[in-house]
Amino acid sequence: MDFLKVVECGIIFSLLMVHSVITAPEYDLIKKLPGQREKVSFKQYGGYITTDEEHGRALYYYFVEAQTNATSRPLALWLNGGPGCSSLGFGAFEENGPFKFNGKVLEQNKFSWNIVTNMLYVESPIGVGFSYSNTTSDYHLFNDTLTAQDNLAFLLNWFKKFSEYRDVDFYITGESYGGHYIPQMASLVLDYNKKSGITPINLKGIIIGNPYVDIEISINNGEFQWSHGLISDETYQLTQTICNNSKSWIEMFVDQNTSESCNNVFDKVHEEIGNIDYYDVTLGICLDESSSSSQLSKLQGGVRSKFIQKNLKGVNAINLCSGNDIFTYLNTNKVQKDIHASISNDTYSWSFCDGPLNYDERNRGINIIPLLSKLLNYGLPIMLFSGDQDSVVPFTATRTIANTIAKQLQLFPINTYGTWYDNQQVAGWTQSYGHVVGGKNQTILTFASVRGGAHEVPYTSPSEALTLFKAFIGGLPLPTS
Ligand SMILES: *[C@@H]1O[C@H](CO)[C@@H](O)[C@H](O)[C@H]1NC(C)=O
Ligand SMILES: *[C@@H]1O[C@H](CO)[C@@H](O)[C@H](O)[C@H]1NC(C)=O
Ligand SMILES: *[C@@H]1O[C@H](CO)[C@@H](O)[C@H](O)[C@H]1NC(C)=O
Ligand SMILES: *[C@@H]1O[C@H](CO)[C@@H](O)[C@H](O)[C@H]1NC(C)=O
Ligand SMILES: *[C@@H]1O[C@H](CO)[C@@H](O)[C@H](O)[C@H]1NC(C)=O
Ligand SMILES: *[C@@H]1O[C@H](CO)[C@@H](O)[C@H](O)[C@H]1NC(C)=O
Ligand SMILES: *[C@@H]1O[C@H](CO)[C@@H](O)[C@H](O)[C@H]1NC(C)=O
Repeated sequence: MDFLKVVECGIIFSLLMVHSVITAPEYDLIKKLPGQREKVSFKQYGGYITTDEEHGRALYYYFVEAQTNATSRPLALWLNGGPGCSSLGFGAFEENGPFKFNGKVLEQNKFSWNIVTNMLYVESPIGVGFSYSNTTSDYHLFNDTLTAQDNLAFLLNWFKKFSEYRDVDFYITGESYGGHYIPQMASLVLDYNKKSGITPINLKGIIIGNPYVDIEISINNGEFQWSHGLISDETYQLTQTICNNSKSWIEMFVDQNTSESCNNVFDKVHEEIGNIDYYDVTLGICLDESSSSSQLSKLQGGVRSKFIQKNLKGVNAINLCSGNDIFTYLNTNKVQKDIHASISNDTYSWSFCDGPLNYDERNRGINIIPLLSKLLNYGLPIMLFSGDQDSVVPFTATRTIANTIAKQLQLFPINTYGTWYDNQQVAGWTQSYGHVVGGKNQTILTFASVRGGAHEVPYTSPSEALTLFKAFIGGLPLPTS
C-alpha cells in the first residue's frame, strides 16, 4: 500500500498518466487459485476496473462464472457492508463463493451461489480490500453518494470488458451496510436506464441479508438482547427509558458527540453480554490469538472459535477461525499476483475492514426506506432476509421494516406468515407482499428469517442461503414443504 501514500498530490499526478486501455478479459483470467485442488468447469477472473481516471480510483473485482451455461444465466453483483468491509474476504471466501478453506486447501463449496448465477464480488468503495484511489484525500469522508456513483461506473466499465454479460438479467445482492449500498446503486441504475441513447441495464431485483436500512429501526436491538437472555431486566429497562441502541448510534455516528447517560447504558450492555459473537449469539469467538485479523467490530462479521458447531459437515462445517486463513491467504504475495490484485511488486496490505478508508459515518443516519419504496414502486422485486441469531441487525428490525414498507405502499400479503423449508426442515419464517400487475397478484417484497443464521447467512447457513437465492432468482416462492 505504501506506493499510494507517496502520492499526496494525486490529482496532478494522475493527469500525467496515460489513460487506461480496456484490455481483453483474458488478462484478468485466473488460471487456478493458489491452494485450489481441483480443476473446475467454470472460469474465474480477477482484476481492477477504473471508476475515476482523474483521481485514479479503481475497484478490485473477483468474477466467478456460473458452473453451467454461464452466458445464458443472470449476473449477480455482491457487496459486503461495514462501511469498509471486503466483499472478497467475507462474501467470496467465507460466505457464498466457489471455494472454502479446509486448512490451507481450497475446496469446492457445494452451496456456492455460482450454481445459480454468475457472481461478481466487488471490493467497494475505494480503500476497502484491494480497491484504492491514487488521490489519498479521496479516503477522507468518502460517502454513500460517491460509493453508489463509483459502483455504477464500475459496472459500466466492467461490461466493456465482459460484453457477453451486458444484456443478461442483472441482480444486486449482499448484506449488512449493503442495505445502503445496494438500494443506492439500484436507484442509480434505474436513473441511468432513463437516459436516452443508452442500452438499459437489465436490473431484475435486489436481495439483501441482515440489511442495515434505518438507524431508528435496524440496530434497535434491546428487545432481542433481552429476549435471548443477553442482558438483565434492569439493563433492558435502561434501554427502553434512558438510551436505546438507535439513540446511541445517532450520538456516536451522526452527531459524533456522545452523552454520558448513553455511554453508561452502552457499557452495561456490553459488560453483561460478554465475550460472544454479537453477529451470531450462538457462536463463540476465535481464540487463536495469533490472528491479526480479529479486529472486526464494525457492521460485519468476525472470526470465531469452534465454540458451537452447527450441523454442517466437511468443508461446509463452520470453521470459526476461517478469518485467519483468509487473512493470511490474501496477504500472500503470490496469491495477490495470481488473482491480479498486485499493482506493484510489494505485498499489498489487505484487511477485512481496516483499510485506509475513513468513511463518512454520518451516512449511517440516512434512512433507506424511501429508496426501497421508490424501487418497489418502479416494480423491482426485493427480498430482505435475516439470520435470526444476529443481535446487531436483528430479524425483528428487518421484519418491522418490511411491514412498514408494505403498509406505506399498500401492498397486500401474498401468503400468511409461516414456515419455509430447506432439506425437509423448517429453515425460517417468511411473509411476502404483493401488488396487482396486469390483473394478477405478483410478489414484490419478501421477508424471510433464517433459523439459526448469523449476520452472514451464507456463512452459517449455506444451504438455506442458496435455497433463498435460487427461489428469488427463479421468481418462485420459498419452498413450503
Ligand atoms: C495509480 O497509480 C499507479 C502507480 O503509478 C498506476 O500504476 C495505476 O494505474 C494508477 N491507477 C489508476 C486507477 O489510475
Ligand atoms: C445448458 O446448456 C445445455 C447444452 O448447451 C442445454 O442442453 C441446457 O438446456 C442448458 N440449460 C439451461 C438451464 O439453459
Ligand atoms: C458525499 O460527498 C459529496 C462530495 O463532498 C457531497 O456532494 C455529497 O452530498 C455527500 N453525500 C452524502 C450522502 O453525504
Ligand atoms: C429509541 O429512543 C429514542 C430516543 O429516546 C426514541 O425516540 C425512539 O422511539 C426509541 N426507539 C424505539 C424503537 O424504542
Ligand atoms: C455535545 O453535547 C453536549 C450535551 O450533551 C453539549 O453541551 C455540547 O455542546 C455538544 N458538543 C458539540 C460539539 O456539539
Ligand atoms: C518485480 O519482481 C520481479 C521478480 O519477482 C523482478 O524481476 C522485477 O525486476 C521487479 N520489479 C520491480 C520494479 O522491482
Ligand atoms: C390477490 O390477493 C388478494 C389478497 O390476498 C385476494 O383477495 C385475491 O383473490 C387475489 N387475486 C388473484 C387474482 O389471485
